[in-house]
Amino acid sequence: MPRAAAAHRRPADPAVIMGQRREDVVVGNEIVRHNRASRLIHWVVALTFFACVFTGMPIWTPLFGWMAALFGGLTVCRVIHPWAGVAFMLSTVVMFFEWLSDMHLKKSERREWISGSRAMQYMRYETDDSNVGKYNGGQKLQFWLVCFAALGLLLSGLMMWFPRTFPPILMQLSYLIHDITFILFMMLIVFHIYLGTVAEPGTFGSMTRGTVTKAWARLHHPRWYREVTGEAAPPPHPHTHHG
Ligand code: HEM
Repeated sequence: MPRAAAAHRRPADPAVIMGQRREDVVVGNEIVRHNRASRLIHWVVALTFFACVFTGMPIWTPLFGWMAALFGGLTVCRVIHPWAGVAFMLSTVVMFFEWLSDMHLKKSERREWISGSRAMQYMRYETDDSNVGKYNGGQKLQFWLVCFAALGLLLSGLMMWFPRTFPPILMQLSYLIHDITFILFMMLIVFHIYLGTVAEPGTFGSMTRGTVTKAWARLHHPRWYREVTGEAAPPPHPHTHHG
């Protein structure tokens, strides 16, 4: 880099530097939500997931045959897909251990979120969030669904990779499990991307820059906000408080 350009570089951003290693810390008006290791593993999971999607869909049906051109043809897709699957599984295992401690569903969360009732309220902005910690019940559920779906895809995928090892009935079952798991998984991820980007402004930055604003944390994760800042949260908004 020319010396003049180097001299004009912006001064290092304290929040970004802090977010290289630490998280759940306040820097000025921001809070570091995901440190660099967390963000890196999330994006490796996402990248390997989409490598599986785009190499797998043309193998699945000719309807998506055009996707094969992205990788140099169907034969190449057939070679890449199982290895992309292995890479996806390995990175999901790393993500699992990286985030597990924050993802235990409380009894009430399990009851409310698995039934789906809470999700409907959440989408209508009707939930009382004053007790939500770093992740809400829906996010924890999404984490577990991702991990179980990855396992289902791995087991059924391994059978399809070595078809002669298993009886025909099990082979048919593995195709069914692989396809159904994929369809549900894809729906989940489309919804996940929507929530992580346009639906809730300020969230995407937590996975790029690593930080969120204090206002974002107070609104979406008040208990986490209180724990991280040591401040008392303002009283809940009358329309969102159900006592
Ligand atoms: C372009 C694609 C994606 C975007 C924009 C995206 C965005 C995000 C964001 C912003 C968060 C942090 C949410 C927060 O801190 O509150 C997050 C978390 C997470 N992401 Fe993604 N993500 C993408 C793809 C994926 C994929 C493909 C997977 C799994 C296969 C995945 C799994 C997760 C999980 C398990 C979490 C933690 C739980 C949660 O917050 O929902 N993401 N993602």
